[in-house]
Amino acid sequence: MKRLAIYPGTFDPFTNGHLDVLERALTIFEQVIVVIAENSKKQTLFSAQERCAMIETVTEPLGGVSVEVLHSGLLAECAREMGATAIIRGVRQVKDFEYEFQMSLLNRHLNPEVTTVFLMPNVNYTYVASSIIKEVAMLGGDVSKFVHPHVLTMLEKKCMEQKS
Ligand code: PNS
Repeated sequence: MKRLAIYPGTFDPFTNGHLDVLERALTIFEQVIVVIAENSKKQTLFSAQERCAMIETVTEPLGGVSVEVLHSGLLAECAREMGATAIIRGVRQVKDFEYEFQMSLLNRHLNPEVTTVFLMPNVNYTYVASSIIKEVAMLGGDVSKFVHPHVLTMLEKKCMEQKS
């Protein structure tokens, strides 16, 4: 049986920090499913379909990756249905930990068969968060170092749409 993990997140948009975490996860797990899930505290710039297509394009050269959208329901249930033994989460800074700790224990309560694995991205991405990337991009700043060229194009397109 293949070792399967899910990598959930809002990914609005998918950054090089997310890609770095995914590549690290692929050194441990043979298959990783990127799960686009809704965070009730966040409003997204890109639709779930746009994020799905974006991540499929960016991760195309990597083997062992697929992308799914969790339209409703719990992530812990989604992990069970997919047969995943692990949930991957990236932790950039100590301040991320409290929320991640809470979520991992709740997910374990909901599905005792799933273990959350925290991975630290390259230090260059410590301050890279989708929210700040969106804000800078929408204000015309250069975010090319932090996102894949395809994501940059999608951000530029979205920026134009919002201005028109
Ligand atoms: O990238 P984010 O916004 O930090 O990801 C948070 C996310 C989407 C993974 C989390 O909100 C989530 O798991 N949502 C799905 C619904 C769910 O299971 N919520 C309870 C989590 S304990």
